[in-house]
Amino acid sequence: MMNFLISAFKSLPTPFYYYDLELLKANLAALKKASSPEYIVHYALKANANDKILATIKNAGIGADCVSGNEVKKAVEAGFKANEIAFAGVGKSDEEILTGLKSDIFCFNSESAEELKVINELAAKYNKIARIALRINPNVHANTHKYITTGLEENKFGINLWELDSVMQLIKNCSNLKLIGIHFHIGSQINDLSNFKNLCTKSNEIQQWFEERNYMLEHINVGGGLGVDYHHPDDNSVPDYKGYFEVFDKFLELRKEQKLHFELGRAIVAQCGSLISKVLYVKKGVSTSFVILDAGMTELIRPALYQSYHKIENISTANDQFSIDNSHKYDVVGPICESSDCFGKAVMLPETNRGDLFAIRTTGAYGEVMSSNYNLREKAKAVYSDEL
Ligand code: LLP
Repeated sequence: MMNFLISAFKSLPTPFYYYDLELLKANLAALKKASSPEYIVHYALKANANDKILATIKNAGIGADCVSGNEVKKAVEAGFKANEIAFAGVGKSDEEILTGLKSDIFCFNSESAEELKVINELAAKYNKIARIALRINPNVHANTHKYITTGLEENKFGINLWELDSVMQLIKNCSNLKLIGIHFHIGSQINDLSNFKNLCTKSNEIQQWFEERNYMLEHINVGGGLGVDYHHPDDNSVPDYKGYFEVFDKFLELRKEQKLHFELGRAIVAQCGSLISKVLYVKKGVSTSFVILDAGMTELIRPALYQSYHKIENISTANDQFSIDNSHKYDVVGPICESSDCFGKAVMLPETNRGDLFAIRTTGAYGEVMSSNYNLREKAKAVYSDEL
């Protein structure tokens, strides 16, 4: 991290999320460059819904992917075009469905016959036609953490292949639904691109199923899930969008005029965010020393919830040769009364002291949005690169 940033951080109350908007813009430029004109990328708001982040992403001219009525409202407020907003989720309430209908969004990604009936009824009541994409559970492995795997039959998500016949029958009888496509999402933080290749193969088979029954699909939505490099945030600050899109280019059979949609969250925003925190105490333990930060699982729950790795840096000692020469292992923990409130065990760090600033890297996605007020803690503020 650059020296001027570290001195700017010193005057700010901690903990806070720092967002590098230039890096976000570079990411969006790389995304645009790698994607092709018949690809429509929707940004998954669930990863980070801060106003400045949304404004920057909207300005890049991409659509939005929402999973709640409030996210739909937020996307509209932020200026995303209604006809580029997809609304997913395994359980949308009546009120949320109405929000989508009133905003005239691009489409509802629907995951069950039960929900389709309700969308149809509400659309009829308000004289609307709801555009629908069926979220199909393709039973494809994502080879990621089990909590963020979504495309297997054992998961709650999507319509199973053997249910398709009856769901299509239902749709035929719903005059306020218009089927426009199919949707998949197999999981998140996927770095092995062969999982997406398997999704393409499955999608081709499913397309064929629809064609054999004379259903034309205008849109194929393959969801999100592209992973980022949590271990080397500086070397790989922008994901390999080229390699990612090439998989779909090569293996997904698009029909003429068919549009391909993506719903990327993490890949776009993860690397532009860092959680900045101050060392409260360095406490000697029996076999280790604990660095106790003023940020905890309330600010960043990913390590506690998914045992996920985030790179941890002592940014105060970046230029201090004595501290670097005296590096040793610390357990880096938060102040919350939970043993799982730990950011990293046996982390090799320069000699650390009370008052040092730490950066927990790659926290732009699913960091601040998943924070809580547990222990009645205040929510951490956001600080942007263009304000320093
Ligand atoms: N589309 C759908 C239907 C989704 O459920 C998700 C994420 C996305 C798109 C965006 O996926 P992404 O490109 O960000 O991988 N809190 C977890 C991640 C949960 C992801 C949920 N669904 C974490 O911190 O790792």
